Amino acid sequence: MSDKKLIFSGIQPTGTFTLGNYIGAIRNWGPLQDEYNCIYSIVDMHAITVRQDPIKLRQHTLEAYALLMACGVDPEKSIMFIQSHVKTHAELNWILACSTQFGELSRMTQFKDKSQRHPDDVNAGLFTYPVLMAADILVYNADLVPVGVDQKQHLELARNVAQRFNQKYGEFFTIPDAYIPKVGAKVMSLQDPAKKMSKSDENPNACILILDDKDTIVRKFKRAVTDSETEVCYREGKDGINNLMTIYSAVTNKSYEEIEKEFSGKGYGDFKLAVGEAVADHLKPVRDEFAKLIADKAYLKECYTKGAEKALRISQKTVTKAYRKVGFVDAR
Ligand code: TYM
Repeated sequence: MSDKKLIFSGIQPTGTFTLGNYIGAIRNWGPLQDEYNCIYSIVDMHAITVRQDPIKLRQHTLEAYALLMACGVDPEKSIMFIQSHVKTHAELNWILACSTQFGELSRMTQFKDKSQRHPDDVNAGLFTYPVLMAADILVYNADLVPVGVDQKQHLELARNVAQRFNQKYGEFFTIPDAYIPKVGAKVMSLQDPAKKMSKSDENPNACILILDDKDTIVRKFKRAVTDSETEVCYREGKDGINNLMTIYSAVTNKSYEEIEKEFSGKGYGDFKLAVGEAVADHLKPVRDEFAKLIADKAYLKECYTKGAEKALRISQKTVTKAYRKVGFVDAR
């Protein structure tokens, strides 16, 4: 690897990616490949912190891998792998768990949310999830982590754990920085603009999936909740319209001012239709490319196998050194 800065990010294979995943995170991953060394992972080990159907998880993991490629991540330029194929993540997870406090994990809002949503399965994995996420990042000594706003707290924890380890055992881990996009770092639900867009939303109209067809996308935008005014403008209190403007801006590269001009004198109906069509057209190449990639399982396998080999080679060095740092006897 060259001496460019290193980027790591991951996404859970819990079904087709949402427009939130796309705008907040993965559409930025492709363009970063030229400027940085990039490592991207489908984090299947994180996914099992909530109950998964094993057959679907396997299918979703392969789909997620193909979908990342369809969104512009190139396995020749980046290292792209499936998390469970690279054992070093779990190994470093344990070491880091011993430098993480119960109290700090208890404060994680995502743990609180998820344990409320799945009260019958508040498992230890769900609680220690951020430690595995810290291991994903620190095992490559990543400098930057491109994520949406909802992952900021987890990243803060990874930084604290790295600092604590460094204090105990001497400088070792790079302290990673979050890399959060200026536009679209938090795409909101189309049905309740106070909530983030999420695939776990019970209302299917709340969330655009990036493989939804054009009619579905347009229909969901038409039903988007807005307000009782008529003017398309970005202003406090207009959460629904602000969200639609953010989405429109993200897929057309138009500024808020340009959007306000474009829709001045027009109603919300015209605006919602335009947003729906722009999103569907923007995602069409992704859907087409995905259809090709998912049909070629042999190629996908070749890519994720090579990706895992490269990721293991790099991360093994970190784990070997970390084992020495904490005082484990060399295995050979
Ligand atoms: P996950 O799989 O929930 O989401 C993947 C990425 O999508 C972003 N995102 C959003 N951005 C804007 N608006 C939204 N509505 C929205 N919903 C999701 C997330 O911020 C994320 O960047 N814990 C991580 C996965 C992970 C990871 C890592 C990430 C595991 N290890 C190491 C970075 C580094 C997660 O659950 O993301």
